[in-house]
Amino acid sequence: MTRVFVLTNHKGGVGKSTSATNIALGITGVLRRAGASNSRVLLIDTDSQGHATLVTTGRNDFGTDDSLYTVLAADRQNAAQTLANCIIQSTWDADLHVLPASPMLEGAERELMRVAGAPYRLADPLSRIAGHYAAVVIDTRPSFSLMTEMGLIAATDAIVPVEPRYLETVGLMSVIGKINDIREGWRHPHLRISGILVTKMDKRVRGHNHLLDELKAHSVLGKLLIGVIPANEAVSYAHHNHLSVFNYDPKAPASRAYAQLVGTLVRRISKGGA
Ligand SMILES: Nc1ncnc2c1ncn2[C@@H]1O[C@H](COP(=O)(O)OP(=O)(O)OP(=O)(O)O)[C@@H](O)[C@H]1O
Ligand SMILES: [Mg+2]
Repeated sequence: MTRVFVLTNHKGGVGKSTSATNIALGITGVLRRAGASNSRVLLIDTDSQGHATLVTTGRNDFGTDDSLYTVLAADRQNAAQTLANCIIQSTWDADLHVLPASPMLEGAERELMRVAGAPYRLADPLSRIAGHYAAVVIDTRPSFSLMTEMGLIAATDAIVPVEPRYLETVGLMSVIGKINDIREGWRHPHLRISGILVTKMDKRVRGHNHLLDELKAHSVLGKLLIGVIPANEAVSYAHHNHLSVFNYDPKAPASRAYAQLVGTLVRRISKGGA
C-alpha cells in the first residue's frame, strides 16, 4: 500500500506547505539515488491558498478543468481518471507530480457540504491511482475544514508541524484528537499519527529549548517527535524564488534537517512499518 503523508495543523503558518513540498521532493531524490524502480511522488494541494502549488509549479491559476476542484466535482466513475488527467509535472523535478489546488476550493467546501460521500471524494479516486507512486504527500489548509477532513481520510500517515511556542503545543492535543476522531469515528484504521515535526526552532531562544524539552519529556507527544527543523532564512529565500530549500542551498541548516527527516520517512516506506 502506498504511504500517503498528510501535513496537518489547524494553526496557520507553522510550516505545513514548506514541509509538504520539501518532503515530497526529498523522497523523490532519495529513492532515485538509491536506484529504486519507482521514485515518483505525488503532491496534492488541498489548500485554496495554493502556496504548495505555486512554489512547485510556478502557477496558481488552476480552476474548473485542471485542479483538485475538478476531481471533487467529478462523478464517482470518472473521478480517478479525472484525477490522473489533472496531475502535472512540477518544475522542481520530473518525478515530482502535483495535483494543483485552486482558489475555487474555497467555494467547493460549501457546495460539497450537501453532496453524498463528500469526505471520500479525494480518498476514493486517490486509492485507485496511488499505486503508480512511491509515496503521496498532502498539504492541507489551516483549519478543521471539510477539505482537511478529506485529506486526512485519504492519508495513511499524519505529520503535525508545530512551532516551539506554548499555545502551539497546547493546540497539538486538539490536532491529535481530531486525527484520532477520523481514525475511529470514520473507521479509517490505516491513518496513524506518524510524527510531530518541530519547525522554525531557534536554539538561541530559551523558550524554544524549554518547549522542545517539555515535548520530548511528554509521555505521549515525546514518542511522536519525528524531527526538528531550524528557523532558517534559506526557507524564505527559497519560497521567494519558487525553489525547494534543497535546490536553493543544500547545505543550509533547514535542508540538512529536512534531509534527515526524509531519510526517516523513506526508511518507513521501505520497511512498511510505523
Ligand atoms: N524553517 C523555517 N525557517 C524560517 N522560515 C520558515 C521556516 N519554515 C517556514 N517558514 C516561513 O514561515 C511562513 C509559513 O510557512 P508555510 O507557508 O510553510 O506554513 P503553513 O503552515 O503552510 O501556512 P498556512 O497555514 O498559511 O498554510 C513562510 O513565510 C515560510 O517561508
Ligand atoms: Mg500552507
